[in-house]
Amino acid sequence: MVEFTLPKNSKVTAGKTWPRHPDAKREREFRVYRWNPEDGKNPRLDTYYVDLDHCGSMILDALIWIKSKIDPTLTFRRSCREGVCGSCSMNIDGVNTLACTRTMDEIKHDVVRIYPLPHQPVVKDLVPDLTNFYAQYASIEPWLKTETPTPQTEWRQSEDDRRKLDGLYECILCACCTTSCPSYWWNGERYLGPAALLQAQRWLVDSRDEATGERLDFLEDPFRLYRCHTILNCTKACPKGLNPAKAIAEIKKKMVERQV
Ligand code: SF4
Ligand code: SF4
Ligand code: FES
Repeated sequence: MVEFTLPKNSKVTAGKTWPRHPDAKREREFRVYRWNPEDGKNPRLDTYYVDLDHCGSMILDALIWIKSKIDPTLTFRRSCREGVCGSCSMNIDGVNTLACTRTMDEIKHDVVRIYPLPHQPVVKDLVPDLTNFYAQYASIEPWLKTETPTPQTEWRQSEDDRRKLDGLYECILCACCTTSCPSYWWNGERYLGPAALLQAQRWLVDSRDEATGERLDFLEDPFRLYRCHTILNCTKACPKGLNPAKAIAEIKKKMVERQV
């Protein structure tokens, strides 16, 4: 059953304003979502001032600066710092994106507001619980499935067939698309969402894979695939410039083609 109002303990309250740095000449204000499952309190928005002359230019640099210089309890995920691992995805200035590839200059508002990815349970602060997201990814069986005997050296693929994976294999599973999809907000337990479906298409078009029929059978379901209503939030959100909505449309086309 969908809840239209936030439960009382989810309402975001005014948080702490941390002191400015006395010697800073250029500062930027950050308001960051904080929630600690252990203190029994509501989430809050804490205010921090980042010294721009002693911090890198990316949003992730600012978060690392806050954590190391002001508040070591601030919790967020990050690893590669170059848009490859997908772990620093969060909602920055109202947009799902990667903190490591978004510059502070790109944020048009004076105050930079940062929340966890929307519509997911929160583990702590900016860390969403992506258990369901990863389980859905696993459900599309993202590996090569074959029946013919494994060749002695390698599975061969022509250059043209390899090119069919472009625009799909680059997905870093950051979940920016899936958590920006209104259909997923309503039916996240049953609708696979744009990331898992783009990955499903990646295996459907792989010339080496021999389980196309089985993969389509799994997706032929009123919820898993057909909850996509082509709203296109997913494509707009993808920080890697991929087009999950197009991948979903291609799967739907395959479903029609196999009926005729
Ligand atoms: S196009 Fe489909 S998957 Fe993308 S946001 Fe819209 S409903 Fe969600
Ligand atoms: S399609 Fe783009 S937004 Fe979605 S998970 Fe992959 S990289 Fe992230
Ligand atoms: S830290 Fe790896 S994508 Fe941002």
